[in-house]
Amino acid sequence: MNSRVALVTGAGSGIGAGTAKALAAQGNRVALVDRSDRAQAVADEIRESGGTAMAVQADISDPDAVTQAVEEVTATLGPVEVLVNNAGFARDNMVLDMPLADWDSVMATHLRGSFLMLKATAPAMREAGWGRVVNISSISALVDGDRANYVAAKAGLEGFTRATALDLAPFGITVNAIGPGVVVTEMTKVSAARAGRTLDEHIEVQRQSIPRGRVGTPHDIARAVLFFTAEDADYVTGQVIYVSGGPHG
Ligand SMILES: NC(=O)c1ccc[n+]([C@@H]2O[C@H](COP(=O)([O-])OP(=O)(O)OC[C@H]3O[C@@H](n4cnc5c(N)ncnc54)[C@H](O)[C@@H]3O)[C@@H](O)[C@H]2O)c1
Repeated sequence: MNSRVALVTGAGSGIGAGTAKALAAQGNRVALVDRSDRAQAVADEIRESGGTAMAVQADISDPDAVTQAVEEVTATLGPVEVLVNNAGFARDNMVLDMPLADWDSVMATHLRGSFLMLKATAPAMREAGWGRVVNISSISALVDGDRANYVAAKAGLEGFTRATALDLAPFGITVNAIGPGVVVTEMTKVSAARAGRTLDEHIEVQRQSIPRGRVGTPHDIARAVLFFTAEDADYVTGQVIYVSGGPHG
């Protein structure tokens, strides 16, 4: 069992909610940060099952909101020791049809948001001489069509992971990334609608290209988060694990 303070962004839904629940089930005190108000219900669920959790509504691309959120968490639960940069979304389009606003908003959440969260939390980890940061990337970091903004943001996040792993290694802080494949969440519903398919049709089409023969669940991703954030996971840093049911395009 761990009893660390863990902050998960985008914890009101999907992978973030699953990760927050898994960290809480391990005994961690969890802060669920989301720009929507959905994190409150997830925090309530964790508390009802005996865990410790708080929800904070904040947009992680806003520096003042990030500072305020981390201050609130620190005052309530204590200094953040585990950070999971998970918040994200896609605004897909062929590059020539991509509005600048969609480029900027995807970069602002995935890259700027992860940078701001790291800057706000890692000083306390450095002081404690122990910390864990996990960035949620995607297999799209390798390549994907009609989503140059998302691919660039996730590839950037993996570069950020390696660079910050070097900067923070001397202080006992590890920084790693997880690249999920298809995981059924709200995001999948958006992708299905964009492809003109029902959710079930979309899942079946995706499933056919996955070696493991099934799509992923938030629990599959949370398993990898628990590996990277374990108390003694001290010697793995700057790495990316693709949790995608086997290599596929
Ligand atoms: N679902 C997949 O198939 C899949 C695959 C690969 C990677 N991912 C990545 O996993 C992460 C979680 O995605 P999901 O599928 O659980 O999506 P989701 O839509 O279910 O949840 C994402 C959450 O992030 C929150 N969020 C978005 N921008 C935010 C911001 N600026 N500030 C605060 N909160 C914000 C949303 O409100 C939402 O609650 C994302 O980074 C996504 O890119 C998902």
